Formats: sequence, C-alpha cells, structure tokens
Amino acid sequence: MTVILTVANEKGGVGKTTTAVNLAAGLALRLRDEAAPKSRVLLIDMDPQGHALLATAYGSETVTAQESLSALLTETPPPSIQRMLRVSQNHENLFFLPSNRASMVDASRVLPTLMANESRLKNAIQPILDQFGYIIIDTPPTTGDLLINSLVASTHVLIPVETSYLGVSGLRELQRTIEEVRMHFQPNLKVLGYLPTLCEEQRAETQDILAELQKRYPKLVLSPIHKSSDLAYAHSAHMDVFTYRPPRQRDANQIESSSRPTQEYASVVEKIMKLTR
Ligand SMILES: Nc1ncnc2c1ncn2[C@@H]1O[C@H](COP(=O)(O)OP(=O)(O)O)[C@@H](O)[C@H]1O
Ligand SMILES: [Mg+2]
Repeated sequence: MTVILTVANEKGGVGKTTTAVNLAAGLALRLRDEAAPKSRVLLIDMDPQGHALLATAYGSETVTAQESLSALLTETPPPSIQRMLRVSQNHENLFFLPSNRASMVDASRVLPTLMANESRLKNAIQPILDQFGYIIIDTPPTTGDLLINSLVASTHVLIPVETSYLGVSGLRELQRTIEEVRMHFQPNLKVLGYLPTLCEEQRAETQDILAELQKRYPKLVLSPIHKSSDLAYAHSAHMDVFTYRPPRQRDANQIESSSRPTQEYASVVEKIMKLTR
C-alpha cells in the first residue's frame, strides 16, 4: 500500500519544507534499487509559496494554471495527473507536480465554494497511487482547505516542532484539525511522530522543549534535527541535503554520512520506513 505522508504544522518557519524535501529525497535515494513502484517517490507541494519544488531543481520553467496542481484541485473534470508528473533533476526516481503560486492562491480561495472541497487532492491522486511507494506532501502554515486536502488524502502525518520558545504551543489547533479529519474522512490517519527541528544543544530552551515533547507525546518523539547552515545552503542551491552533502555510503540497508544534517535526515528516513512497513 502506498504511504501518503503529510508534513504539517500550522506555524511557519518550523522546518516543514526542509523536512518534506529531505525526506522525499532520502527515501528516493534509499529505495533507488528496489523494484518500481516501491522505488518511486512523489513530492507534492501544497504550499502556494512553492518552496519545496525548488529542491527538485525545478522553478525556471513557468507553467500555466491548467498544467499545474491547482487545476487538479479545482477543475471538473481535472486534467490528466499522469501527464503532469515531472521527474526531479536530482533523483531519477523522485517525481513532483508542477505548481504555480498565483493559481494555488486562487485555488485556496475557490476551494471552499466547490463540491467535495476537502477530498479534491485525495481524488486527484487516486489514478497514480499504484505507481508510488511513498507520497510526501508539504503544507502551508495555515489552517484551510489546502492543509485539510493534504490530511484527507494521507495515511500518515509527521509534525516538525521547532525546539525554541513557543515551539510546542501551536500544536493544539493542528491536533483538532487532525481529529476532525479522522472523524469525517480518514479514521485511520496516523500521527507518525513529532520531529524536533532547529535544535541547538547548548541552549537550555532546546532541552526544555525536548523534555516537554517527551512528556506530552511519549514514544512519538523522533530523534532531532540540529540547526545546520548546510540545510539552508542546500535549499538555496536548489538541492536536497543528500545531493548537496552526498553520503559516503549507501548500501541496501542504510545511508551513512559524515555530514550531520545528511545523517540526521537519513535516520528519519530509516525510522519512517520502519514505522510504515
Ligand atoms: N535544521 C535547520 N538548520 C538550519 N536552518 C534550517 C533548518 N531547518 C530549516 N531551516 C531554515 O529555516 C527556514 C524555515 O524552514 P522551512 O523548512 O522553510 O520551514 P516551514 O516550511 O515550516 O516554513 C528556511 O530558511 C530553512 O532553510
Ligand atoms: Mg514551508
């Protein structure tokens, strides 16, 4: 069964996009030698900002609204999703759907007026589900139809939490949204875990937040991602960290790297594969 994982947190700047991008790339690298469809990963960018797509080295080409994700969400009948699929320039088994900022903003405005407005993404990806092992969805930092469509389409949710002041405080609203989605659409939607991000070991605040997370969500806290300029540099170079700081070794069972962020995201990839097996 295809694992469809939404990366969500209604707060901005907590590492959602960084996590979605590197998770998708790490899974693609890790599963590269598997037989298709298991080896194939799809990254869907539901944030109108389109920042996740930058890491596929896509962005220079312009797409019309009709050729992009927004049309899948709003048109009846939707255009062919099969023809819309593009392959990342960094990984031959990582795919994405082109997006266009203006038309995604329009889509978020019209969705509430459309029939089945919460299930549009779920319905749109139905025809291609059997072609992918993992589908990773990045989301905007707002509650609304784009986030709800992502959750309704998903089997799992991963929640990055910034390990700084107020990092934990905004999670209640997301939990309520997840509960609503479970009640009305997707009873099996599973929270895979909370991923501490932007950790700075030497700061007492980081330790406090990690302890607080452990207390609130025992067994659901993943091993943290530390602050690392490589993650920001990689993204501005239109790369994921596995491309920017390639692992020295990648065998059938794991990725090993001397670069800390590469190794940390590789660990998240392993954990996610284990939890979704
Ligand atoms: N672990 C990290 N170390 C350093 N910079 C990071 C890290 N995670 C994210 N960033 C940077 O922080 C900013 C916000 O991250 P981003 O992933 O875009 O968050 P969100 O999608 O939740 O808004 C970006 O500039 C990103 O490059
Ligand atoms: Mg983002």
